[in-house]
Amino acid sequence: MRPAKRTASFTESVIREMTRIANMHEAVNLAQGFPDFPMPEPMKEAAAAAIRGDINQYAVTWGSAALRNAVAEKYRRWYGMEVDPDREVTVTCGATEAMASVFMALMDPGDEVIVLEPFYENYGPDATLAGATPVFVPFERPNWTLDADRLRRAFTKRTKAIVVNTPHNPTGRVLTRAEVSLIAELCIEYDVWAITDEIYEHIRYAGDHHVMATWPGMRERTITISGLSKTFSCTGWRLGYAVAPHEQTAAIRKVHDFLTVGAPAPLQAAGAVGMAFDNDYFAHLALDYRMRRHILVDALTEAGFRYSLPEGAYYILADFSGLSDLDDVTFAKWMAQEVGVATVPRSSFYHDRALGSKLVRFAFCKKIQTLKRAADRLVRIRESL
Ligand SMILES: Cc1ncc(COP(=O)(O)O)c(C=O)c1O
Repeated sequence: MRPAKRTASFTESVIREMTRIANMHEAVNLAQGFPDFPMPEPMKEAAAAAIRGDINQYAVTWGSAALRNAVAEKYRRWYGMEVDPDREVTVTCGATEAMASVFMALMDPGDEVIVLEPFYENYGPDATLAGATPVFVPFERPNWTLDADRLRRAFTKRTKAIVVNTPHNPTGRVLTRAEVSLIAELCIEYDVWAITDEIYEHIRYAGDHHVMATWPGMRERTITISGLSKTFSCTGWRLGYAVAPHEQTAAIRKVHDFLTVGAPAPLQAAGAVGMAFDNDYFAHLALDYRMRRHILVDALTEAGFRYSLPEGAYYILADFSGLSDLDDVTFAKWMAQEVGVATVPRSSFYHDRALGSKLVRFAFCKKIQTLKRAADRLVRIRESL
């Protein structure tokens, strides 16, 4: 009795493997993309109050009215976009579940989905679970730009959707207005869905956040996905959402219902509190991350890594070819053991895992003291070579 074929291509997350190695060697863990600092106190209080106040039963499957209203208000407040909370919002168990539910709601077997590479590692398996085929288009090095001709060539009669993640994990790119416009034009020309992953929208150091759904002709062909994990440093709460036209929302809600019934009710109540925070909260979030980025950037430069400065999100994809001839996985394991800093090897973010290009990803969503400890070790890397 073997498991289903569709699981055969899924591998155990390399990030978890790196965390295991980090723990074994007491390395500073810059592999995993979650904060080691606390989430906002008022949200914790609101969650505790909701539990004590007996908000402990199933919420409405597509999300509590309070959180859906907060999502609609967010799009009005930040992007001038009108969203109907009753017909266009589905609250999910994280952006992760939103993405999986959207794929299953929109894709048929044989459909192609364009995924820009390197990518957040869930998109490929999401496509596979939905019976769709991912088609990969690389960002161009060294600055992770999009080649318009290469992107255009990936659009075919079979293309059903493109996944667009900005700010981008793992490169830190924030797509420009011109890049978003190019993708929008192609979506309209080829009658393709844009599925956007905007989970890092409030963590930016340069550039504006462009919401593709606000582009002319795109509202009716865009599924906007985001969530609370990164903005409120609560990755364990599992709260995300998908904003989509009514007809697609109806399909997404059905898949979401059968997969999960719903996201945690008391945490939805507390999530709405966070989304109403004033602008100061969001400004400080980005400023604090800028400070963290600075510590890591200085250490990587001194150590001899090459990288392009992230414009958003909280990762640096760094080239170690000036330091070592090892392949990425061996180098990442060596760093965790010998230098005492855990990273994620590049192969996690590319479909061809055999490609041995010299990149590792550092996450800087960590306390200043954690980053300083990592920096102290990184600047001495040459002593271990
Ligand atoms: C691009 C991207 N999308 C989605 C997620 C997961 O979001 P959530 O915690 O809401 O499932 C991550 C987490 O690292 C991510 O990097």
